[in-house]
Amino acid sequence: MPDAPSLAPALVRPALASVQAYVPGRPLSALRRELGEIPITRLASNEGPYPPFPAAVRAIADQAALQNLYPDPGAWALCDALGEEHGVDPDRIVVGNGVDSLIRLLCMAMLDPGDELVMGWPSFISYRPGTMAQGAIWTPVGLAPDGTYDLQALAAAAGPRTKIAVVVSPNNPTGGAVSGRDLEGFLDALPPHVLPVLDEAYFEFLPAGSHDGMALVRAGRSLVVMRTFSKAFGLAGLRIGWMAGPRGLARALSPVRNAFDVNAVAQAAALASLADAAVELPPRIQAVRAERDRMADGLRALGLEPLPSQANFVFVEVGEERAAALDRALTARGVIVRPTAAFGAPGGLRITAGTPEQTDRLLAAMHEAMGEGV
Ligand SMILES: Cc1ncc(COP(=O)(O)O)c(C=O)c1O
Repeated sequence: MPDAPSLAPALVRPALASVQAYVPGRPLSALRRELGEIPITRLASNEGPYPPFPAAVRAIADQAALQNLYPDPGAWALCDALGEEHGVDPDRIVVGNGVDSLIRLLCMAMLDPGDELVMGWPSFISYRPGTMAQGAIWTPVGLAPDGTYDLQALAAAAGPRTKIAVVVSPNNPTGGAVSGRDLEGFLDALPPHVLPVLDEAYFEFLPAGSHDGMALVRAGRSLVVMRTFSKAFGLAGLRIGWMAGPRGLARALSPVRNAFDVNAVAQAAALASLADAAVELPPRIQAVRAERDRMADGLRALGLEPLPSQANFVFVEVGEERAAALDRALTARGVIVRPTAAFGAPGGLRITAGTPEQTDRLLAAMHEAMGEGV
């Protein structure tokens, strides 16, 4: 076979040279090849530990034979159901191929070269490549010591070219959430030319009385709120998330989005999940919170200092070298956690809350590794 030709570098946009692509957690198939037959406990991607709701599994099966047809391009039925559930006009809701895709579309629709997005850091990665791929300026702002966003510093960082100010709460990878009152103060303080984006990917894990972005949208505040079916609803594999915001949001995104972004199976599964959420969500949330807290207690008993978390994971700062050593030692024992260098926290490990058995395996592996001096 003749050598395959290489793509000429000059054909690629120079702005992309400095963009670090998102590096996802290692897939199960790669881990199986690496680790052979030992059981694998994957606590690296903040997925839900339980299968989709029974009604969602049925909806997925029912959809199988219909996949010769294109999906509903506007996810109208789901927008209507979400609008009804949250008391928000469905015209203000956009469904996407995961929140990740919505982040990218928002950046494509809003940021020109030289425009700016400000956000807390360490935090969720996707906003950075989304900004930089536009040739726009990505400005990170340090977090408060408890791992939550420093909202005063964030508001102060917004300048004349800032178009988007992102708040991730609970924050990934640190797990802390801002208070509702601080959030409202931030919205008041932000200059009017800046669009606030509140990423509530872990909203369902927040304790009662925490912030609720949909209440702010209902109250007429100008902001975008992101939610996902990937975490609490257990639909990460189908890729479906949504956002609500100012009127005109869907229109602004339409030139940059693909017509059939969100597949029909995902739409049906999300719709079925929504209908059963009141019954199915609370026991799962309770179970995940219980394992998160048991994991944090177990790590504390080993002498580590996890940050307080209001999400489905815990973050522990151990120092750069030890983070790498613990990651290796845990991986060798089949327990996969997430080193957080790419999130801006090079000395950290983020560990997803799983089932009780997964917590036991994580704590046993951590105990063994630390017993060997790691
Ligand atoms: C804060 C935050 N936002 C967005 C996402 C992406 O969610 P989705 O699976 O809907 O793309 C994640 C996923 O880990 C996240 O942690």
